[in-house]
Amino acid sequence: MTVPTEIIEKVVDPRAYADGSIYDAYRWLRANDPMGLVEAPGYDPFRVVTRHADVMEISRQNDLFHNGPQAVLNTQVGIRKSLELTGGKPLVNSLVQMDPPEHGKYRGLTSAWFQPGNLKRLEGRIRELARRSVDRMAQSGGRCDFVNEIALHYPLLVIMEILGLPEEDEPLMLKLTQEMFGATDPELNQRSSSLNIKDETQQLDMTSLWTMMAYFNKLTEERRANPTDDLASVIANAEIDGEPLDAMATMGYYVITATAGHDTTSSSTGGALWALAENPEEFRKLRADVSLIPSMIDEAIRWTTPVKHFMRRATRDTEVGGHAIAEDEWLMLCYASANRDEAAFDEPDSFRIDRKPNRHIAFGYGGHLCLGQYLAKIEMRILFEELLPRLESVELDGEPAMSQALFVNGPKRLPIRFTMT
Ligand code: HEM
Repeated sequence: MTVPTEIIEKVVDPRAYADGSIYDAYRWLRANDPMGLVEAPGYDPFRVVTRHADVMEISRQNDLFHNGPQAVLNTQVGIRKSLELTGGKPLVNSLVQMDPPEHGKYRGLTSAWFQPGNLKRLEGRIRELARRSVDRMAQSGGRCDFVNEIALHYPLLVIMEILGLPEEDEPLMLKLTQEMFGATDPELNQRSSSLNIKDETQQLDMTSLWTMMAYFNKLTEERRANPTDDLASVIANAEIDGEPLDAMATMGYYVITATAGHDTTSSSTGGALWALAENPEEFRKLRADVSLIPSMIDEAIRWTTPVKHFMRRATRDTEVGGHAIAEDEWLMLCYASANRDEAAFDEPDSFRIDRKPNRHIAFGYGGHLCLGQYLAKIEMRILFEELLPRLESVELDGEPAMSQALFVNGPKRLPIRFTMT
């Protein structure tokens, strides 16, 4: 079957991810061509994988389906330009671009650090940051833009806490996370991701890359001289095959942690409050029984699915869900479609805080399963544990808006009116 032009246009149009029409395209694809071939002008051909079962089936086979070298959709020009700069290697080589056996070695360096047992000791410090955010909201006079005043800052402060960075570096880190992994939304005044240059008009800002290199090199030196219990110390002192990581590899690790943990968690936090403001019955249910917070958070993450896709490339001819896949075919794993798949979820378009089971795959699946999933859930849980007992009512106060981006997107504006104790 041929995918109709209007569906193809939606898949590669960041505006469709902001106005929600991408969900109509996904619905059509799931029903009619769940691994449809997209041949869009300016892009190498790729298949859009839209069913939950197929996304899982591909994600769990990391030897057969590779991430590298291009793990996120990019135009032919963007790919060529990124590779020209680096002589054929990804600009910043991080976990999401790696494949076995390299990937396992690098992931193993920090996987224990990200386990719930280790993260538990951070809960007190995270709670202090959450309280400060909730106090700030309480002082805003009953109206605020929840995204710009709360949801954008809190996860960034948590990341700075885990990396052990001083709070005064927040503006620099904000620039880093926005430039290296940012959205394509013109209103957000962000350039396209520096890792992912989109067209001829966009140039990589080498100055900011060198600034970042210098910043992280200094951090590495400090943590090698005086290791602490933070994540930066684990990265700075890590060894692969008996050798310390070089400057590029160390930076790749800091960058993936900082960037992957920011926009994503901001989006799901903003998405949670948006959904609660629009579903007063669910809000009342949650306030009456705060033990539902963890399940509300899972539902908010499914509902928002901040990471819309990652790409994989088939290393040989194979078959998934009855569909032939040829060697070297490029596959777009559409997590947001999988998380609204009627075959996997009852009433997938309803926001239900007590959904059970909730087998969403917003954190991916298989060998690349999000390293920060427990941290993301802990920080969201703590924020809502602090917020909900004080938040008596909440409603929308004007038009909220989603960001325009094919990769990571979520609310960019969420005006709310509320009463708080
Ligand atoms: C709601 C918040 C988050 C969402 C929805 C999310 C989603 C994802 C997804 C979909 C992947 C790719 C999985 C795959 O290919 O199977 C991923 C990977 C990753 N995430 Fe997250 N993430 C979130 C928060 C975080 C946080 C807080 C951190 C760390 C501070 C983090 C660090 C990472 C890293 C390091 C990877 C790469 C893992 C690998 O390739 O082995 N993420 N995340």
